Amino acid sequence: MNNPSSRASWTASVYDRIGLNYSQVRRPDPRFEAAIWNALGSAKSVLNVGAGCGSYEPADREVTAVEPSPVMIAQRPESAAPAIQGAAEALPLRDKSVDATMCVFTMQHWDNVQQGLDEVLRVTCDRVVILTVDPDVMARMWLCNEYLPEIGEHDRHTFPSMEYLEARLPHLHIGTVPVPADCTDGFCIAFWNRPEAILDPRVRQASSIWHLLPAVVVEEALARLHRDLESGDWDRRFGQLRRQAALDVGLRLAVSELT
Ligand SMILES: C[S@@+](CC[C@H](N)C(=O)[O-])C[C@H]1O[C@@H](n2cnc3c(N)ncnc32)[C@H](O)[C@@H]1O
Repeated sequence: MNNPSSRASWTASVYDRIGLNYSQVRRPDPRFEAAIWNALGSAKSVLNVGAGCGSYEPADREVTAVEPSPVMIAQRPESAAPAIQGAAEALPLRDKSVDATMCVFTMQHWDNVQQGLDEVLRVTCDRVVILTVDPDVMARMWLCNEYLPEIGEHDRHTFPSMEYLEARLPHLHIGTVPVPADCTDGFCIAFWNRPEAILDPRVRQASSIWHLLPAVVVEEALARLHRDLESGDWDRRFGQLRRQAALDVGLRLAVSELT
């Protein structure tokens, strides 16, 4: 964690390995998109840090995208802003050069969150919009609580806590973003009501947590989930989730007003 450049290149290499089908499994969810675009307010120029394949970038603003992984950059649609290869910890932008910065599902991958946030604050004039996960809430979801507590342990070290963000970002408002039952962005806990999807290797391919935990731990947990689905145990315990429209699994929209 002390050497930003080495960790940034390591993280990028994770996405170079696992990001191959990212744009198919991680399709931007229209409800998250609306919330992010609304939070960007009247910003005309927007920096997207950890921009990946371009998800959630607003088409009606001037976007600058920064992303370390060439595999992710290669999946950006032709219509998207060209991405600059780079990392949050050393943004290739001038001081106060963008109205707003967005960071979506990315901070948990940064080598040095403090350095990345300092950089974001250096280049941004008006507001910072962050879509992230509160690791304490996420740890209570059945997948983490019952099958893979290792996810919670891992993510407590990688996702910044809400208190951490509050201490470092001025005038921060943190809002809950319920994850809809038919969420199109297949991040790990988006399948709170669709446990069968988690058994699909193509779905797991596009979420880094499945590649960061020891394979034997993941395999054991998936085998247990498979057994519980076949026996009906999962449905006896959690089946009511299948009838729910949305759930708070810890997704948070944090907006910092700088002016
Ligand atoms: C889960 S993906 C999210 C991509 C995109 N924001 C989205 O919502 O689809 C995380 C992204 O963070 C990028 N990333 C990893 N380390 C980074 C760093 N140090 N600075 C900026 N981005 C980084 C990864 O390469 C990857 O594209």
